[in-house]
Amino acid sequence: MTGYTIAVVGATGAVGTKMIQMLEQATFPIKSVKLLASKRSAGKKILFKGKEAEIQETTAESFENVDIALFSAGGSISKQFAPEAVKRGAVVIDNTSAYRMDSEVPLVVPEVNEEAVRSHKGIIANPNCSTIQMMVALEPIRKQYGLDRIIVSTYQAVSGAGISAVKEMKEQAQKMLNEEPYEATILPSGGDKKHFPIAFNALPQIDLFTEDGYTFEELKMINETKKIMSDDKIKVSATCVRIPVVSGHSESVYIEVKEDGASVSALQDILRNAPGVVLQDDPSNQIYPTALAAAGKKETFVGRIRKDRDEDKGFHMWIVSDNLLKGAAWNSVQIAESLHKLGLIKVSN
Ligand SMILES: NC(=O)c1ccc[n+]([C@@H]2O[C@H](COP(=O)([O-])OP(=O)(O)OC[C@H]3O[C@@H](n4cnc5c(N)ncnc54)[C@H](OP(=O)(O)O)[C@@H]3O)[C@@H](O)[C@H]2O)c1
Repeated sequence: MTGYTIAVVGATGAVGTKMIQMLEQATFPIKSVKLLASKRSAGKKILFKGKEAEIQETTAESFENVDIALFSAGGSISKQFAPEAVKRGAVVIDNTSAYRMDSEVPLVVPEVNEEAVRSHKGIIANPNCSTIQMMVALEPIRKQYGLDRIIVSTYQAVSGAGISAVKEMKEQAQKMLNEEPYEATILPSGGDKKHFPIAFNALPQIDLFTEDGYTFEELKMINETKKIMSDDKIKVSATCVRIPVVSGHSESVYIEVKEDGASVSALQDILRNAPGVVLQDDPSNQIYPTALAAAGKKETFVGRIRKDRDEDKGFHMWIVSDNLLKGAAWNSVQIAESLHKLGLIKVSN
């Protein structure tokens, strides 16, 4: 049987389990999958296309004869093992922030900059989940009217912080409803000093703070947008907030276009025909995207498009997508599909 051998690193995680599901739906030929995680999970079994596959501990040798390695086990694991995978001939598609801003590494959203995969030197980075959905919605508008400024406020789901954060939110919610004592040990950021409950709450901190008061998540959105759109001049600002939703990031986005002539109906027409976008914009019938409705879907949903009341070239919109699918697993598998489609990947023996 010919086809690619694909490794999934972090196969037991929030993103990794979705990667396995997305690979089951991929259109390129797959000979076999290698499911990798930490030593803790070695020996566990996961179904792939109805057959049991065993989780193995990740080692450098795991990548022998692997054609494509999808990484989502945290930045330090990518730093440790992605070079080992590349050394053994695999192309790495990395979901962590480890290589995103490396000038040698393309940062790819296939609907936006698929051709960038051609320049890879072994590693291709998958952007931050909040950035991906914003790019899918804004690039078609930018192509038509140019973009001068983007201001985004996010309402991000808890699964973006991994399986253990979702578990903790559910426990907190149950305990709060029972009026029992509850614990907060993970959010807003595992690496920070204090932790706050996310159940029935909204936390204006995702990742750690930088010196200028922005969080790293906010800087990811700002810097990655400029890199993906290949535009250093575009003005971008972000406020990232965690809310008690399991899956599906929502974003309130304000843009200022460069060219004259944009209107709500013109933007709606562009987005109606844009790849990967579903327009849900009919306020009179209360049609707009929500996180619950977007969860489990691969597309990016856009609605609530309004013209700013003061700024002639300013528009507001609401952008929603499943952070584990388009924001992570599906975008990674799409990148693998692009490599296959463009003839950039060889099957190893
Ligand atoms: N969640 C999202 O929406 C999202 C979106 C884009 C990118 N990402 C990025 O993807 C990465 C994973 O996120 P997640 O949400 O899936 O986290 P998660 O649910 O906590 O899963 C972490 C995964 O990493 C594995 N792992 C931990 N230590 C390891 C080691 N020493 N060697 C090999 N594997 C190890 C875990 O395996 P065990 O089960 O064996 O511990 C598990 O499979 C993070 O870098 C995150 O920033 C997440």
